[in-house]
Amino acid sequence: MNFKEQMAVKVAEIEEILKTYMPKEEGPQKIIMEAMNYSVTVGGKRLRPMLMQETFQLFGGEGDAIEPFMAAQEMIHTYSLVHDDLPAMDNDEYRRGKKTTWVAYGEDMAVLAGDGLLNFAFETALKAFGKTDAEKVAECLKVLAGKAGIYGMIGGQVVDVMSEEKKIDMETLLFIHRNKTSALIQSSMMIGAIMAGASKEDVEKIEKIGEDIGLAFQIQDDILDVTSSLEILGKPVHSDEKNEKTTYITLEGLEKSKKDVEEISHRAIDGLNSFERENQFLNELVEMLIHREK
Ligand code: IPE
Ligand code: IPE
Ligand code: MG
Ligand code: MG
Ligand code: MG
Repeated sequence: MNFKEQMAVKVAEIEEILKTYMPKEEGPQKIIMEAMNYSVTVGGKRLRPMLMQETFQLFGGEGDAIEPFMAAQEMIHTYSLVHDDLPAMDNDEYRRGKKTTWVAYGEDMAVLAGDGLLNFAFETALKAFGKTDAEKVAECLKVLAGKAGIYGMIGGQVVDVMSEEKKIDMETLLFIHRNKTSALIQSSMMIGAIMAGASKEDVEKIEKIGEDIGLAFQIQDDILDVTSSLEILGKPVHSDEKNEKTTYITLEGLEKSKKDVEEISHRAIDGLNSFERENQFLNELVEMLIHREK
C-alpha cells in the first residue's frame, strides 16, 4: 500500500472508533446529541487521533486503551472548531464542507454542542480506566485537560480574538499559534507516547516535536486561507482577512511562510528520527502536511 492508501485505511479505522464513542441520539435533549454528532461526523482529516495512534506505535504501544483518548481528543478539537466558527468569534458558515454547527442548529445549540463535546470528551477518556494502568490514564488526563485549557488552546484563542483589527508582532503571533494549534497536537502526541510507556525525557521531546508540527500546521492553515478555495478547503477562504487578523503571511510574506513550513516540519522529522524505533508512516505524514491542500 502506498502512503495515500495507508492513510485512507487509518482514517476509516479512526472513524469506526469515533462512532463507537459518540452519544446515542435520545431523550428530551436529543437535539444536542444530533448537533454533536453532526459536528464530529461531517468529516475532517482526523489528524489528531492519527498523530496519537502513530506516536503510540512509535513507542511500541499495544492494546486498545489509547482508543478512548483518540475519540476524546477529536471531540475537544471539534468543540474548538464549533466555537471558533460562531458569529462572536470568526463568524464562518462552512466547516468540513458543510454548514457550520451554528448555521445548522442555531447559535444557542452550537454553544451547547461545543460545551457538550468538551464534557463528553472527558466522560469518554475516563473509559480508559480499567483498560491499562490507572497511573498512565491519570497522567494522560492531565495532559488532555491542560493542553486544551487556558494555558493551552483556550489561551491561544483568547489572544487570537484580542488581536483582531490590531497589529501584533511575531512574538505574539507565535504565542497564538503555539497555543491555539500546537497545544492539541502536543496533547495528541504526548498521550500516544505516555500510553505506550515512553520515558519522561522522550515525552518531553515529543512535546517539542508536537509544538513544531502544530506551528507548521497553523502557518499552512494561514497560507491556505489566502491561496485555496471553499471547494477544496471545505471552509471559507479569506476568513483571516475578513476578521483583520495578523497572520504569518501578513508578517513574513507568502514565500517565506512556505519556506518556514518546510523548515519547521523537517526539524520535527529530525526529532522523530532521534528515537530508538522509527515510524515511517508518521514521518511521511509530517512530510505530507507541508504540501497539504486542505
Ligand atoms: C483546523 O484544524 C483548525 C486549525 C487548528 C487550523 P484541521 O485543519 O485539522 O481541521 P479538520 O479536523 O481537518 O476539520
Ligand atoms: C483556530 O484557528 C484554531 C482553533 C483552536 C479552533 P483558525 O480560526 O485559523 O482555524 P480555522 O481556519 O477556522 O479552521
Ligand atoms: Mg479562529
Ligand atoms: Mg476560524
Ligand atoms: Mg484558519
